[in-house]
Amino acid sequence: MDVIVAEDRAALRKALGPGTVALVPTMGALHEGHRSLMRLARERAAQVVVSIFVNPLQFGPGEDFSRYPRTFDADLAACAEEGVQVVFSPSPEEMYQPSRQVSVSSGHMGTLVEGVFRPGHFDGVLTVVAKLFNLVQPDVAVFGQKDAQQLALIRRMVSDLDFPIEIVGAPTLREPDGLALSSRNRYLSAADRSVALALSRALFAGSAERAPSAVLSAARAVLDAEPGVVLDYLSLVDPATFEEVDDRYYGTAVLAVAGRVGTTRLIDNVLLEL
Ligand code: PAF
Repeated sequence: MDVIVAEDRAALRKALGPGTVALVPTMGALHEGHRSLMRLARERAAQVVVSIFVNPLQFGPGEDFSRYPRTFDADLAACAEEGVQVVFSPSPEEMYQPSRQVSVSSGHMGTLVEGVFRPGHFDGVLTVVAKLFNLVQPDVAVFGQKDAQQLALIRRMVSDLDFPIEIVGAPTLREPDGLALSSRNRYLSAADRSVALALSRALFAGSAERAPSAVLSAARAVLDAEPGVVLDYLSLVDPATFEEVDDRYYGTAVLAVAGRVGTTRLIDNVLLEL
C-alpha cells in the first residue's frame, strides 16, 4: 500500500484510520537507525506515522539548520518499504504561527551535558514533540537511545505533563566499525570518518570498566590520543536525570560524548552498569 503524505493537520486527521497509532518523529535524512524505529513502531500499533520536519526551534545560531540534509523522496521510499501508513511532513508555517508565544521548557535537565553546548536546544525539541503528540495523538512514540538526553527529557515531559503516550527507546545502531548511525555522518569526509571512530572507541573502552572514575579515565585516554576530535564533553551521568555520577554511584549510567570532527559535530553514548 502507498504511503499517505499529509502536509497539514487536516490531511493528517483524514489519513488516520481507527486503531492504535505509533509515531516515529524524525527530521528526515532517514537511515537504517530510523528504519529500526519504524519496525519497532509497527510491532506496537496498527498504524505507523513518521513525521518528517526539520525543526528550526531546536537549532541555535550558527548550527546546521540550513544545510541539514533534506532527502524527502528517498525518505518516502524508506517509509514505504517499512510499511509506514502515513508520513506527516508539515511546513514551518503549518507548525509555527508567527504569533506563537508559548513553548515547553526542558527545565534544569535541559541545561546539563548537551544543553551546556546547545542552549535552548531541548526546549525546541520538547516544544515540537509536544505539538506532534497533540497533532498525531499516538498511543506509542519511538525514539532512539542515540539521543539519550532527548529520550530522557521526553520521558520526563510525558510524565510531568501527563501525555497518555507510551515512550519506547530503541537501541543505537552502529556501522561494523562502531560508528553510530546518524544523519550527520553524511557530512564526514573519509578522513573525518576515520577520526570520528575515536568517539565510539572511547565509549567502548569506558564500558570495559566498572567504577565511574575508571570508566572516565579509560574513555578519556582514547580521546586524548586522537587530536582530530575537538571534544565538547565526556560525561558519565544518571540516565534519568543527566546529573554526573561519581564513585559512590551504583546501577545503570550513560557514558555520553560529543565533539567536532572537521566541521561536523557528533554525539554518541552507551549505557553501562556500574
Ligand atoms: O531526534 C530527532 O530527529 C529530533 O530531535 C526530533 C525528535 C524529531 C524532534 O525534532
